[in-house]
Amino acid sequence: MTQVVITGTGVFTPENVITNEELVDAFNAYADKFNEKNAAAIEAGEMAAVPYSSPEFIKKASGIEQRYVLNKSGILDPDIMHPVLRARDETELSQMAEMAVAAAKAALQKAGKTASDIDAVICAASNHERAYPAIAIEVQEALEISGFAFDMNVACSSATFGIQAARDMIRGGSARSILIVNPEICSAHLEWRDRDCHFIFGDVCTAMILERADLATSEAQYEILDTKCITQFSNNIRNDSGFLRRTRENHMDDRRDMLFRQEGRKVFREVVPMVSALITDHLTANGLSADEVSRLWLHQANKTMNDFIGNKVLGRTPETHEQPNILQDYANTSSAGSIIAFSQHSDDLNSGDLGVICSFGAGYSAGSIIVRRI
Ligand code: COA
Repeated sequence: MTQVVITGTGVFTPENVITNEELVDAFNAYADKFNEKNAAAIEAGEMAAVPYSSPEFIKKASGIEQRYVLNKSGILDPDIMHPVLRARDETELSQMAEMAVAAAKAALQKAGKTASDIDAVICAASNHERAYPAIAIEVQEALEISGFAFDMNVACSSATFGIQAARDMIRGGSARSILIVNPEICSAHLEWRDRDCHFIFGDVCTAMILERADLATSEAQYEILDTKCITQFSNNIRNDSGFLRRTRENHMDDRRDMLFRQEGRKVFREVVPMVSALITDHLTANGLSADEVSRLWLHQANKTMNDFIGNKVLGRTPETHEQPNILQDYANTSSAGSIIAFSQHSDDLNSGDLGVICSFGAGYSAGSIIVRRI
């Protein structure tokens, strides 16, 4: 069977940072304005006042300290409370494609490859800025890659599901080498006016090159030993925006259900055991024990959640280097989180070392990728 390796990764990080303190200042200013404007209704018990957010809560509940965003001014303006991005015409690269091209160039360089070595592009992300043509085809054209390209969406698990799809295609012979990009503009589907979730997300784009091992030339290569993806339907993380919106009465209004929403506690409770079992069973099915795993690159949603999963899988508290977190800097970047962790914390592994990339989220969905440094 054809051996498939990951030979390069790249991360595009936006320039703007929002700290928890800046975020909370803006949110509390919004709360004051809202409460003042609706004082009579709040007083009469017809409307609930918007409570304050706090940086201490955010850090304690999630481990997040800051996030990168494409636009800062709109998010922090109490009269706007969402990113404001310039409309682009058809002759320009779209927003997602631009981020993807930047990350892809870094991944290609690391892999020591050029566009002519790549046969396909997958854009795997939790939202796509338009229905069609596929963002992946735009990226393909911008980088002058021949072959084929397509978009896919499995929410926060998009990257690992993308790895499984790419590996299967390379093994099946439909491509020698595949570029996967994960442009995540989470700031645009987050409700910044809801204190329960306003701190959760950030923007970023990751990219990976997967190729046949016999063609790989890069210094750092990670053989994909096996992949396992699972799904189980849940309404606990949901975003109802979609192409039927216009057909339904009132659905074009500024509605809470047309943005990311979740039952955070339930997600925490249900996803931790699901993911711990996925990784453990996946290792066992491959004749491996947790003792043999040098590193876990987990989805970056919540530090306590990762601590629980790492503990359950390894049977002890993982050392910091065994389970690196990047969410303190990036917040939750949906499908890109585990790939940022892999990209930033894998160069120090030695030949033969084993690791697991694992992402999880809406669907529910979860993907586990066992890799070995060559
Ligand atoms: N500032 C201050 N207080 C806040 C707050 C904020 N920004 N947001 C919520 N609170 C309050 C709540 O109102 C609640 O108050 P109450 O006890 O009086 O009702 C209390 O803090 C606890 O809120 P809760 O939402 O239960 O906190 P939590 O400990 O569950 O943490 C999450 C919230 C979202 C961080 C956590 O549930 C989580 O990360 N879950 C997993 C999410 C996940 O992985 N999702 C995948 C997305 S892709």
